[in-house]
Formats: sequence, C-alpha cells, structure tokens
Amino acid sequence: MKRTRTDWNIMKGLLAMVGPLWKIMGLAIVLGTIGNLMASFVPIFGAMGLASYMDHAFLAPENAILPASALVPPNQAPSIAGWILIAILLCGIFRGVVKYAEQACNHYIAFRLLALIRHKIFAVLRRLAPAKLDGKDKGSLIAMITSDIEQLEVFYAHTISPVMIALLTTLVMEVVFIKIHPLLGVVALFFYVLVGVVVPFVNSRLEGNTGIEYRSRFGQLNQILYDNLLGLREILQFSMEEKRKEYFLQENQKMEEANLRMKEKEALSMIGTDILLIVAGIVMFLCSGCLAQAGWITVGEAVVATVAMMSSFGPVVALAALSNTLRQTLASGERVLDLLEEMPVCEDLLEGADWISGDIAFHGVDFSYENGAMIPFLTDFTHEFPQGKISGIHGSSGCGKSTLLKLLMRYYLPNAGEITYGITDVNQMKTEALRKSIAFVDQDTFLFSDTIEANIRLGKLDATRKEVEEAAKKASIHEMIMSLPNGYETKLSELGESVSGGERQRIGLARAFLHDASYLFLDEPTSNIDSLNEGMILKSLRQYGADHTVLLVSHRESTMKIAEEVLEVPFIELNN
Ligand SMILES: Nc1ncnc2c1ncn2[C@@H]1O[C@H](COP(=O)(O)OP(=O)(O)OP(=O)(O)O)[C@@H](O)[C@H]1O
Ligand SMILES: [Mg+2]
Repeated sequence: MKRTRTDWNIMKGLLAMVGPLWKIMGLAIVLGTIGNLMASFVPIFGAMGLASYMDHAFLAPENAILPASALVPPNQAPSIAGWILIAILLCGIFRGVVKYAEQACNHYIAFRLLALIRHKIFAVLRRLAPAKLDGKDKGSLIAMITSDIEQLEVFYAHTISPVMIALLTTLVMEVVFIKIHPLLGVVALFFYVLVGVVVPFVNSRLEGNTGIEYRSRFGQLNQILYDNLLGLREILQFSMEEKRKEYFLQENQKMEEANLRMKEKEALSMIGTDILLIVAGIVMFLCSGCLAQAGWITVGEAVVATVAMMSSFGPVVALAALSNTLRQTLASGERVLDLLEEMPVCEDLLEGADWISGDIAFHGVDFSYENGAMIPFLTDFTHEFPQGKISGIHGSSGCGKSTLLKLLMRYYLPNAGEITYGITDVNQMKTEALRKSIAFVDQDTFLFSDTIEANIRLGKLDATRKEVEEAAKKASIHEMIMSLPNGYETKLSELGESVSGGERQRIGLARAFLHDASYLFLDEPTSNIDSLNEGMILKSLRQYGADHTVLLVSHRESTMKIAEEVLEVPFIELNN
C-alpha cells in the first residue's frame, strides 16, 4: 500500500479534529497523571514507612527522607504505620475514582470525535456521490466507515493522553529521584527514555508493515464477504459455493498469518520491555545501594528509590505498547484523512440558474472515465434532443447510453465540449435545480427498507396519498400494491429482495411520475416488465411525453416504438 503522508502529518491531521474538545482532553491528562502517580505512590509510601524504621536503625533523623515530624522512635511505630496506611488507602481509593474519571473523559472525547468524523465522512460521500459510489470499491468504503473509524478510537482515547501522562508522571518521578540523589535521577531518566522512546521506536521498526498488512487483508476480506453476500444468488446458480468458500478461507488464512506475524512481534516486544523493567530495578537497586554504602543517601532512601523505579513504569510501558497499534491506527487515519480530503469528480454548484428548459444539446462532447475506459460514442459527440418530445437512444450494451444520461445529470463532467439545456450550460445552473428538474429512473432502482408508500414518496416528499396512488397507477403497480395485506404500508425488506425486478422498476417509475419534473430520463425502464404492464406504462409515458421532455434508453423494440425520434448509436468494435 502506498503511503502518501508521513506519520507526523497523519497525527497532525487527526489532532486537528480534536478542536473544541481540547479542554476535556486537558482534564483527562491531568486526571491520568494524578491517577498514575497515586498508583506509583502506594508502594512508594510503603517503602517510605519501611525507610523510616530502617533509617532509625542506621542513621540520624536529620538524614531521613520523611519530615522530622513523621519520624518517630520505633516504640511509636503504630502512629507512623497509621499515617502511611491512611495515605496508601487514600491513594488506592482515589486512584480508582480518578482513573474512572480519566477514562470517562477520554472515551467521551473519542466517541464524540468518532461521531463527528462519521458525520464528516457522510458529508464527504454526499459531495463525492454519485461518481464515487458508481465505482466498484463499495466494500472498502464500508470497511472504512466501520472499522477504520473505530480504529481511530485507539488514537483519541488511548494515544494522545497516554503520551502526555507519561511525560508528566516522568517529570514528577524525576523530581522524587533527584531529591534523593541527582545520580539516581540520571539513572531513572535513562530507563524512562529507553522504555518510553527507544523501545517504541525499535518496536515500530521491527513491526515494519505487519500491522498495515493485517488491516489491508482485513479490508480485502470484508470486500469478499460483501461480494459473497450480494452475489449469493449467482454463487448458488453457478454452483460456486465451494470455490467461493475456498477463496474466502484462503484469504482468511492469509489474514490470520498476517495477524500471527503481528502478534509474534508484539509478544517479543512485550518480553523485551518486561526484561528491561527488571534490569531497571536491579540497576537502581545497585546504584542506590552503592550510594547508601558511600553514605551519600540513607538505606531507607535506597529502598524508596528502588521501589519508586519499579512502580513508576506504568505510563511509560503504555507508550511501549502503543507502538504496536499505532501503525494500524495511522494507516486507518491516513485512509480516513484521504477520503475527507478527496476532491469530487464534479463539485455541486450552489450558484447559477434556478430552473432549466429548452432542448437538450451536446456540442462536441468528449468523455472517458477516470480509469480511461474508452467510450467511442462519446467522442466529439454532437446531438440535440428536442424539448417536449420522447427521444429514444438505442445502441449496443456498453456503448455509453447510461453514461450519456449521467452526463446530463452532471454526475460527471465532459473532458471537452458543452452540454446545454436551452441556452444554459449544465455548469451554469444550480446542481440542486438541475436535479429537481429531472426525474431519473436508473437501470437499478434502489429501494429503502421502508414502506412502499415511503419509497414512492421519495419523488415528492409532500405528496398526498392520492398523488402517490395516481403515480403508482401510471406505473402500473397500484393493483399489485393493493393486493398486499398491508397495501401501501407494506414494509420492504432491507435489500428490497422481497420485491421482483419488474416490481422494483415499476416503483422506480412511480417515483419518477410523482416527481413530475419537466425532464424524464429513463434507463431501461421496462427491461423486467411483462408486455401487459409494459403496455400500460407506455400509455402513461405517451401521455407524460405530450408536455414533458423524455429521454428513453431501451433495448426493447416495443418500448422504443413510443419514441418520436431515435438516436441509433453505431456499433464500434473496440480494439483495446
Ligand atoms: N463508473 C465507471 N467507471 C469506469 N468505467 C465505467 C463506469 N461506468 C461505466 N463504465 C464503462 O463505460 C462504458 C459505458 O457504460 P454504460 O453503462 O454507459 O453503457 P450502456 O450503454 O448503458 O450499457 P448497457 O446497455 O449495458 O446498460 C462501459 O464500457 C463501462 O464498462
Ligand atoms: Mg446502461
């Protein structure tokens, strides 16, 4: 997979989205730091208690690390033990409360941000559609909207604040070590940097692209699953169950292997970190022991320093573990940022003419898709479809008929030439006005999992029930709807699979009739409809065509008959 941004740029892009939530993030960092210090100070307080006994045994009170008032003769042991016990209890109890509050803040930020990013993604898709959704990458888009955005939760809830918390707790602990002896401060700093900076860096080098490979295989598997679900009928029809299953299992195996490689590296890095922590404890023990022997610090202080070293690695170790997921998170972040910044093939126009009328004309139009797919018919194409007439377009499959309608809808822009409605260029009218003036019945009508009435009403949201029924009658679907137990209230199942192809087309037509726009573009409107229903629909279309401009794409001769003129696309054999 090609990376176009540096890790730093991705983090900057993701951080820029924190925006107004930075105050809560600040609170999470402060709470996290206090919580981690409390956790570290439970054993440190214990060691301090022990130290005060030891220092009494070995040294004069003025050298002890606890305040003189806290140092009591051994016969007053219960009072100091009580003091320490209270401190430990308070740390223990408040550590839980503070941790809870920190996590609540982090997750509040993360989920608010994820919701915000989802909103942004959908707004971007709205801008990029329909061209973006015309392509074949719906599976990876779905994968992105679901798993990539989820993965960003790791960044917002478990990356930003841990880094800051590790920095702040390290600073406080450094003060503790330096207070005992500056040399111990240097030793501690060495290990903090080793575990918190060097280990994550080495980890990410060792890990290489395994995390990214895993995520991309995961995306691929999603795509296959999506294809299998949508193509279930074809799979059954052509007895491809075994083949598809084998393919799925093979890809699953590859994903598992990538996962295993990633986990092995994670495990190695965990072992390495654990060994380092033990080494850090031993080194601190030896150094502070030597200092105590030389009389520069007390024995109790040596014990406190060793315990402090061992117990204060929590936030720094969290950084070491972060690098394991950070690569995946950044890869997800990059895909999300790429989509957010993707420029639409054709930007919606907010300014320009409010309505369209007149003949439809193509003037020397050239068009090819972004992937360079050749459409010879749309090369220096000049033609006029007269207003108020039914014009047919007939030609071989794949010659570019649907593309021509999509150009008229301004889903795409021509590479050269002009497309005009009357005297107005498509680029000089508001896109919303353009689409409102056109009812477009696509080759595949999409039905929402809602009632039949709601699906037809999409054509005109404020239509009365009577208008909906009138439109359904024109599309020859009214009787079929009335024969259903719940009539217009019948719910269509999620993918509309309970509706036949012909019924689906007729619901699409009803939508278009209800929309009642001055232009009606029909792409194969009768391909799945029996002759009887076709006859009724054509009758409605003829009536509609009397005072509307209709463009009709069809392979069906009987349908084409209602066209007052037909554009025959010549058959051109492609050499490439
Ligand atoms: N989104 C797209 N990206 C790239 N190529 C595309 C895209 N949509 C269509 N094409 C290609 O452009 C050519 C014209 O497609 P189009 O759908 O316009 O054909 P058509 O005349 O409507 O065919 P049919 O009669 O089968 O519906 C085809 O070769 C098709 O593969
Ligand atoms: Mg087509």
